[in-house]
Amino acid sequence: MTNSNYEFAGWTRFIKESEIRRLLTVKVDYAFGGGMPAALPLDAFAEILTDMGTSFTADINAGKGMETVYPLMNYGQTAGLEPFRRTLAERLIRRDRLDWMDIETGWQNVFISTGSQQALYLLLDTFLDPGDILATPAPSYLGFLGPAQKLKAEIVTVPTDMEGLIPEAVQGAIDKSKEKFGKAPKLLYTVPDSDNPKGTMLPEKRRKEIFDICVAEKVVILEDAAYKEMSFDGSRIHPIKHWDTENEHVCFLSTTSKEAAVLRLGYSVLPPAIFNQMAKAKGYLDLCTPSLNQEILDVYYRKYMDNSLPKTRDVYRQRGEAMIKAFDEHMSDCAVRTDPKGGFFVWAEMNDKSFDASKFLEEVAIPNSILYVPGAAFYPMKGPKYHSYNLESNSIVPGEPEVNTMRINFSAPSVQQIEDGISLLGKLICKK
Ligand SMILES: Cc1ncc(COP(=O)(O)O)c(C=O)c1O
Repeated sequence: MTNSNYEFAGWTRFIKESEIRRLLTVKVDYAFGGGMPAALPLDAFAEILTDMGTSFTADINAGKGMETVYPLMNYGQTAGLEPFRRTLAERLIRRDRLDWMDIETGWQNVFISTGSQQALYLLLDTFLDPGDILATPAPSYLGFLGPAQKLKAEIVTVPTDMEGLIPEAVQGAIDKSKEKFGKAPKLLYTVPDSDNPKGTMLPEKRRKEIFDICVAEKVVILEDAAYKEMSFDGSRIHPIKHWDTENEHVCFLSTTSKEAAVLRLGYSVLPPAIFNQMAKAKGYLDLCTPSLNQEILDVYYRKYMDNSLPKTRDVYRQRGEAMIKAFDEHMSDCAVRTDPKGGFFVWAEMNDKSFDASKFLEEVAIPNSILYVPGAAFYPMKGPKYHSYNLESNSIVPGEPEVNTMRINFSAPSVQQIEDGISLLGKLICKK
């Protein structure tokens, strides 16, 4: 049966399949398209699972199974298990400098979701009515734009430079939204650490400025810290949430997917009223996040993480450095790039503004066994709900994606594949 046999909801007609999901199915030698974590600490998880199996068997044989094993196989609290939330709260205070959180009670602000993708969706779902305004960087993570469009937001993109979001542009976008729509954006989205897709690291000064602007303007910040542990050298700039000492203005989202394993566990620190709304919404989506996965990751965070993270980071640092070197050797004649200090991506802008990265991908790159994601995928889809704040003219204009851009992944390919693939891409693009 085709789509026309069913009466699907309206959004199914205007929301497209994610570009990345489609691209991931294309088989190539040089896959710079997806954003898969590749340095997962398999040994640690093998050990945790073995130990867990042994202790489960011992407990069941000793008649304690109902007490210890049963709860992990059962439904749990919608917002997550207390021990895991306590472990995360401790790390957030120690490592992420959320010093205002109380070591004893802070865990109650930590919300577990089934992936941080679910938290993103829940947040948008609990905030947005059709026609509400959202401010988001140009370009933005696709998994944020899709739900925002599905929920019929008016999206105002805010310009970024090689360091990420520009505070002056955030202020301008808010001021001009008020003029154009009669209201400020409800939310500002940002990925300050090793951004997806740009790979930029927002400087501390800008973080604080953006925080101050949003507090003054009553715009809630959605700080997506998915790559916060993935800086190449392990350094960490304060998250914006660090300054939110009253826990009122910033929803801080992170994930275990990049720093541990993709067991579909996200964690957020949320203002209490937002926490309650999200827990209500989550209850209708999945009732709870699997308890067993929370237990596995709890052990990992408590006993393994500090030891295995440096090794994980090292793999990405080597690949990131290989990517930058190869880019500078083979592509710098015809493109500029961001300067990732962590994360999984570098962002390239062709000097030729008329270069169409989508067309080039289909016609040249894929036939030569190379994959990247065309930058246009990280802008809202064209149409009346896509607006863009222009810093030069200080005005909101109809949005247009920058088609001469591409996101290039370095977390998944090997150093050899990066060297060979970028050399080939450079020859094809720069026609050397
Ligand atoms: C910026 C960003 N946020 C959120 C996510 C979602 O991660 P997960 O649902 O695995 O926690 C991703 C995944 O790629 C991401 O890149």
